[in-house]
Amino acid sequence: MSLVPTVRLSGGLEVCRVLNGMWQVSGAHGPVNKDRAVEAMQAYVDAGLTSFDMADIYGPAEEIFGQFNNQLKSKPSAPALQALTKWVPRSGPMDRNVAEKALRRSMARMNVDVVDCVQFHWWDYRDKRYLDALGHLSDLQQEGLIRELSLTNFDTQRLEEITSRGIRISSNQVQYSLIDQRPAVKMEQFCLANNIQLLTYGTLAGGLLSERYLGMAEPTSRAELYTASLSKYKNMIDTWGGWRLFQDLLIALETVAKRHSCSVANVATRYVLDQPAVGGVIVGCRLGVAGAGQHIDDSLRSCSPELKLTAEDLAAIEAVTRCSNDLMALIGDCGDEYRN
Ligand SMILES: NC(=O)c1ccc[n+]([C@@H]2O[C@H](COP(=O)([O-])OP(=O)(O)OC[C@H]3O[C@@H](n4cnc5c(N)ncnc54)[C@H](OP(=O)(O)O)[C@@H]3O)[C@@H](O)[C@H]2O)c1
Repeated sequence: MSLVPTVRLSGGLEVCRVLNGMWQVSGAHGPVNKDRAVEAMQAYVDAGLTSFDMADIYGPAEEIFGQFNNQLKSKPSAPALQALTKWVPRSGPMDRNVAEKALRRSMARMNVDVVDCVQFHWWDYRDKRYLDALGHLSDLQQEGLIRELSLTNFDTQRLEEITSRGIRISSNQVQYSLIDQRPAVKMEQFCLANNIQLLTYGTLAGGLLSERYLGMAEPTSRAELYTASLSKYKNMIDTWGGWRLFQDLLIALETVAKRHSCSVANVATRYVLDQPAVGGVIVGCRLGVAGAGQHIDDSLRSCSPELKLTAEDLAAIEAVTRCSNDLMALIGDCGDEYRN
């Protein structure tokens, strides 16, 4: 088994610096065969990629994890898995019962007695009941049901507000890529000062940040943007500066990749992993989806300490990214794309 670099969250949980993302089994990225998805997880674990990111709203993701977890538990000397999930409630009363019911449902689906990490999402800041919900999650953490209490898609202002109330937050899961560098503007500094890790998604822009799209005509149809990720991040590229600028970025990344005998995805991932507050990058895995690529070796290369971007590499990349639009001005801080 290879040694995958890890990061320790403030509550002590060690997660891989590349995590396996399971939004890709929700059904929005191609039809999923659940048994094949469970089977496909083994190769990731064998490679040392033992951290899985899920959500209560990712279709069967928690159940697929639970089935795999169950099988693994029966094997002697099975490696430990790290199960990160999210609670994404609809607006409504946020009393203790609501929080505990949601948590116990995820625990039952995932087949765990303690949830390694719960990442809380909230849709509307005007409804301040996110503070109630987080208070209950914090109590449930004190009672031993949650190891790490975390957030997803929260902005810097609310992160500050939450932590100032004495709620200990381990990480915030946000979009962070060569295209979307909003976390570097404000979020990063606050996280560094408060020992909060950023776990990032969109780092490969659904696969657009790879050789596959170099020199390709702009994809626009649903058939070309055939997963929810591809369509989400193609929209982001449109706001960032458009397909022509994106091609310039791919050209720069390919030049850098050739220098290191690695892939464009490796460079895109390494760049984000090297940002000061970033603990880990979540790479989406289309487990059990026919026609999905298998990127385990490539992910291992991305987080290998041997892959080091040089000042020359960074200058070539930043010569392009500096020509982009200001996403902070156009969209707002982290997570605002879900609220505007
Ligand atoms: N908190 C949130 O709001 C939020 C939002 C989005 C995602 N997420 C999390 O982040 C995870 C990642 O999702 P994402 O949408 O951001 O997708 P992503 O990781 O940017 O892209 C995933 C796709 O990239 C391709 N890919 C992966 N590794 C590659 C490599 N080495 N070379 C070339 N292509 C590669 C694969 O395409 P093929 O399958 O076609 O090979 C894969 O399906 C999700 O599963 C979820 O856990 C969270």
